[in-house]
Amino acid sequence: MVRTMFLGTGHYVPEKVVTNEDLTKLMDTSDEWIQQRTGVKTRHHIDWQNEPMGASELGARAGKKALEDAKVSKDEIDCIIYATLSPDKAFPGDGVLVQAKLDIPAGVPAYDVRNQCSGFLYGLQMADAFIRTGTYKRILLIGAEAQSSGLEFADRGRDVAVIFGDGGAAAVLGPNPRDDGRGILSVKVHADGRYVSELECPFPSSAVSPRISVADLEAGRQYPVMNGKHVFKHAVTRMPEVVNEVLAEQGVKSTDLKLVIPHQANQRITEMVQRKLELTDAQLFSNIAEFGNTTAASIPLALDQAVHQGRVQAGDLVCLTAFGAGFTWGAALIRW
Ligand code: ACO
Repeated sequence: MVRTMFLGTGHYVPEKVVTNEDLTKLMDTSDEWIQQRTGVKTRHHIDWQNEPMGASELGARAGKKALEDAKVSKDEIDCIIYATLSPDKAFPGDGVLVQAKLDIPAGVPAYDVRNQCSGFLYGLQMADAFIRTGTYKRILLIGAEAQSSGLEFADRGRDVAVIFGDGGAAAVLGPNPRDDGRGILSVKVHADGRYVSELECPFPSSAVSPRISVADLEAGRQYPVMNGKHVFKHAVTRMPEVVNEVLAEQGVKSTDLKLVIPHQANQRITEMVQRKLELTDAQLFSNIAEFGNTTAASIPLALDQAVHQGRVQAGDLVCLTAFGAGFTWGAALIRW
């Protein structure tokens, strides 16, 4: 049976570090509130004054690192899958922008995934299906976000603005050439559109004309809105549920897992998921303190760190899980 393997990973974050103290100068907040409620200490933001760039640039720089890590040339890539909620343009999507930036040959298809924090797992399921069916053999899967240009750094937006960071991360995926049981064992993704309004960015919207008005801008409708308590309740239910779904399907238990890498939504969510899955600290990876919530980049960024820190070795069972706007959620089980 053909299984999909991670041939290489990479990430890129802007150099500029923004501390909680920096944010206290922009809004009525405190380092104590932010750390206690979210676990975030710093985040990386694009330097909009000196080096402005879009998510596609973050994704391209991460993709270049993943190609180097995989020892795969850009000319071998036969498919790009790109996940973001913060594309450079209204259209086209960032997949084709990354193709141009990395000089990936013309004709290679580029898919754009719009599933927010679950975007990387949605894209991973697509890549796994493509590779197992032999449709493509070298897929570049990217999650990248330029969030700091879309947040309101003021009292009105403080419940959301303090959580998010900018960053890009990527993986190169291909078929496992050996029949040794290593590779992706299962990817499950889900959605429930009844909760759209609990976590959304409503404008610009094609449902109105003009798609965003001066009144909308003055009202701050271009910024994300979140019902934090509601998101928390659903996230800590759905993530353990979908992890248990992939574990049961593969006949393994959480104690068999070497590492669980959750989407870095909020440390409070991560800790509740850890408790529900009865994971030890050694079985859990968290880097939200340094990077904040980088949405579609958060899982591949954490995965790249975990692999290069030696926390994941060949043959280990690794579980990725995410919850995001939509609501959407998912999990992947990998024999590394
Ligand atoms: N600094 C200081 N005070 C703040 C801030 C801030 N940055 N933001 C909100 N507050 C205030 C509120 O105004 C409120 O004050 P009030 O009681 O005087 O009105 C108080 O803090 C409590 O506000 P809540 O929203 O009830 O704060 P809560 O205790 O619920 O914590 C939080 C907010 C951290 C968002 C919490 O709801 C939570 O953990 N939610 C999980 C959702 C989440 O973190 N999602 C991440 C992004 S989505 C994703 O990745 C899936």
